[in-house]
Amino acid sequence: MAKAQFGNKTPKKPITWSALKQMARMYVHVKPYRGEFLLGLLMLLLSSGSNLAFPKYLGELVDAAQSDPSAIDGIALTLVGLLLAQSVFSFGRIVFFERVAQRSLASLRAAMYNHLVSLPLPFFHEKRIGELTNRLQSDIGVLQETFTSTLAEFIRQVVIIVGGIALLVYQSPSLTGFMLLVLPLVVLLGVFFGSKIRRYAKEVQTASAESNTVVDETLSAVATVKAYTQEGTEKARYRSALERVSALGIRGGILRGAFSSFIILGLFGALVAVIWKGASLIASGEMASGQLFSFVIYSGFIGGSVGGLADVYSRLQRAMGATEAIMAMLDEQPETSGQMPATADTEPTGSTDEAVRFADVHFAYPTRPDVPVLRGLNLILREGQQLALVGSSGAGKSTVVQLLYRFHDPQQGQLLVQGRDAREWPLEALRGRMAWVPQDVVLFGRSILENIRYGRPEASDDDVRRAAEDANAWEFIERFPEGWHTQVGERGVQLSGGQRQRIAIARAMLRDPKLLVLDEATSSLDPESESLVQSALETLMKGRTSLVIAHRLSTVRHADVIAFLHEGEIAEVGSHDELMKLEGGRYRAFVQKQGSGTLTSQ
Ligand SMILES: Nc1ncnc2c1ncn2[C@@H]1O[C@H](COP(=O)(O)OP(=O)(O)O)[C@@H](O)[C@H]1O
Ligand SMILES: [Mg+2]
Repeated sequence: MAKAQFGNKTPKKPITWSALKQMARMYVHVKPYRGEFLLGLLMLLLSSGSNLAFPKYLGELVDAAQSDPSAIDGIALTLVGLLLAQSVFSFGRIVFFERVAQRSLASLRAAMYNHLVSLPLPFFHEKRIGELTNRLQSDIGVLQETFTSTLAEFIRQVVIIVGGIALLVYQSPSLTGFMLLVLPLVVLLGVFFGSKIRRYAKEVQTASAESNTVVDETLSAVATVKAYTQEGTEKARYRSALERVSALGIRGGILRGAFSSFIILGLFGALVAVIWKGASLIASGEMASGQLFSFVIYSGFIGGSVGGLADVYSRLQRAMGATEAIMAMLDEQPETSGQMPATADTEPTGSTDEAVRFADVHFAYPTRPDVPVLRGLNLILREGQQLALVGSSGAGKSTVVQLLYRFHDPQQGQLLVQGRDAREWPLEALRGRMAWVPQDVVLFGRSILENIRYGRPEASDDDVRRAAEDANAWEFIERFPEGWHTQVGERGVQLSGGQRQRIAIARAMLRDPKLLVLDEATSSLDPESESLVQSALETLMKGRTSLVIAHRLSTVRHADVIAFLHEGEIAEVGSHDELMKLEGGRYRAFVQKQGSGTLTSQ
């Protein structure tokens, strides 16, 4: 049966030529194991074949009782041999298919994950993460089932239908013709009937969930219901929802009753008809009774396989859906990396002292293309300089960082890093020279040590420790019983905001970046952690080219240059003192509004 343990079900897709071609693209992952796959296939054919031979010998056994009792033991032994063969082949088939499936799906999963991490950031903004993990879980689960059982069942069913009919025609063409007229039709009708019942059951489920929503909603807001004296309306609403459920349920009951009558009349009726026709053939001497016996068993096999095919078909459709979704993801374009020669990776080519320059940059997020965020941004950050970017919340400060990291590219204008277009830089070199302490620090659910070392995996323990000390993190790390082996919990929840931020600062220090980017690293802290983080940041910035986004006024005040971002442009640039002298200046107004010395916007 189709697996239902995955939250989000893979949708079905019709089995078309192009869907099959998509499926064929999976072959690279199976190819290394094709030998075992073929062996499994062979085992499958052999086990289906021995399965098919079984009724024939059963019939002969029955006939031997009447015509040739001396053959009884031999036939029985053959039957035992067939069972043995079938059991060996089934075992081999399952083991081989599972071996192939496990390894090729692991390879496909790895390919998907490798591709995912290479995709540009906008891709992740457009998709829910749940949807992506679903690709890796549920879609692969569907394929696994296809591989290990659906495919095998499909082949077995085809072998049984084709082989069974051939054997039957050989035994009695007229009875076969008769059987084929009634049985498959009845089976297919039954399948159709069954799927209708399933669909109906789903409707009942939906209706009942809807009625539960009424209860949930009103009971959790019961005070509102009472305050507005809407008890009467809600009772009526629930009552009518319930009536819908019961009406649907009752109609479903009639369908199920009809289905059971249909099985009795149709399916067993068809069998009775075949036996009736066979009995008259025996009476006229055209058939032996053992033949009829095996005939009936074959008919049962064939009927079962025809019914099973419908299920297999719907599972294959689901496999098509899974394949299409996986392939669509694999077809997403990865981030484009520049191809600048490796020697130029880290050193400036020109004699420029401009670490970063935004030249007339226009940008809107791809998810909201008609809302421009940056509109002709011009900004220069010189080597060794500290540049503070100030502006109200939502002005686009963090967006500037996003562009600097090439998580997005500007739609117009140019971003130059060391005098070179950012798009010419290999991504690794571009990002590798920077360190970023983001606005909301999210740690990995690993140890503190691993989280700090993330900035430079090859760093020695001494270096990590020094970074932690410089970040004012060492004293709280030391107080944990497990020291830096302390696990921080999922996303770092077992640490306070200030602790998380100091770990992020240690991580950035360890990286020893050419360019440091701080995005409101102290915005959500209490005064005490704020001053600890603040002094850690000052250590980190000393003598380093830094882009600092509005923190406390004290940081901004001492920055070499302050740039005020307003409506997607730099409205004012200068030192604190210069900007404060501007009558009616935006920065000045901003500082005055902040009053007590903190320049926090989030
Ligand atoms: N991923 C995104 N997709 C669409 N719009 C975004 C995205 N991130 C930020 N924005 C929008 O861009 C504008 C600037 O955001 P941001 O740069 O985060 O502002 P700041 O850091 O100055 O507070 C805001 O209006 C925000 O709603
Ligand atoms: Mg921001």
